[in-house]
Amino acid sequence: MASTLALAACDRNAAAQSAPRVAPPLKSLAAFPVGTCAMTGQFDDPQWLELATRHFSQLTPEWEMKMEYILLADGRRRWDAPDRIAAFARGHGLRLHATTLIWYAQDHPWFKSLTGERFGREYDRWIADAAGRYAGQAAGWDVVNEPVAEDGDGLRDCLYSRALGQDGYMIRAFEQARAADPQAVLFLNDYNLENNPRKGATFLRLVERLLKAGAPVGGIGTQSHLDIEIPAGQTAAFIREAAQFGLPIHVSELDASLRRDGAFDPRTPKQKRDQQTARVAELTEAFMALPPAQRYAFTVWGVRDTDSWLRRGDKDDGKDSPLLFDASGAPTPMFDAVAGAFSR
Ligand code: XIL
Repeated sequence: MASTLALAACDRNAAAQSAPRVAPPLKSLAAFPVGTCAMTGQFDDPQWLELATRHFSQLTPEWEMKMEYILLADGRRRWDAPDRIAAFARGHGLRLHATTLIWYAQDHPWFKSLTGERFGREYDRWIADAAGRYAGQAAGWDVVNEPVAEDGDGLRDCLYSRALGQDGYMIRAFEQARAADPQAVLFLNDYNLENNPRKGATFLRLVERLLKAGAPVGGIGTQSHLDIEIPAGQTAAFIREAAQFGLPIHVSELDASLRRDGAFDPRTPKQKRDQQTARVAELTEAFMALPPAQRYAFTVWGVRDTDSWLRRGDKDDGKDSPLLFDASGAPTPMFDAVAGAFSR
């Protein structure tokens, strides 16, 4: 008898170890939208589809709603892919977060070919067309992306700032977006705000200046491409400071690379994982500590590790695990860090 019991217990343990762990739907643990990003090519991937619709309640187009896709070199527009993403979101009951209207990194050939008043007219028409097309569906828009200089010292000089003035190009973009879509929450979005406190401070001063100038900035987007080496406490400190405006906050593109480029890294994989999950838990807890009305959404930049933009290109060593699901679709320790903080 005793041995039968022992055998049964043994069987149960074996089953627990070999059965794939079924993670609770992340969205069911949160009172705010939990987002990920999507490319139309992923809609035909059954595993992506299952994970995206089971765990997430908001969708950001990864790149096909950006100027780089929609605007052609001769100024014509191409709406097929962004429309498919919007339709997918509608069809699966996901809220749509739209990105991005003006981004220094996309100094588009069409805008490069324009001068004088024509530049301003086309700038307005681009924003009116893109923001107008998804008005009524997009809960929010990243209106200006990454305006702060890399080192955090001042703002980026770009095609749009040169033509329309520093601050001026942003104020104009927010005003045009507001006119095209009166309902959407309009975001200023940037990265390294937690990683680099100087950049975080410059960003928040910019938000203050734009608001003073009357620009309809309605939300703060922090991409949160987290550097797992940042000192404990720094991430939470930024989220607290950002909250002082009373505006909704969007963790808009969370990922946390385990890779350290260049320098020799003596740590074990377990040590790196622990550091990653501690920083991600800190960010998630800081987001959870916001007043409910300020929790716009919590978005991760991809579903599986293999979907991550960090796993594309020549620097990829095939091992990084910056997201919530691994290549087989199983939850990563980072999933547990987020789910744990959502549940506390
Ligand atoms: C990246 C996407 O992941 C790529 O697929 C696309 O080609 C370029 O943009 N900061 C941002 C995001 O604001 O829009 C970027 O996404 C990642 C860095």
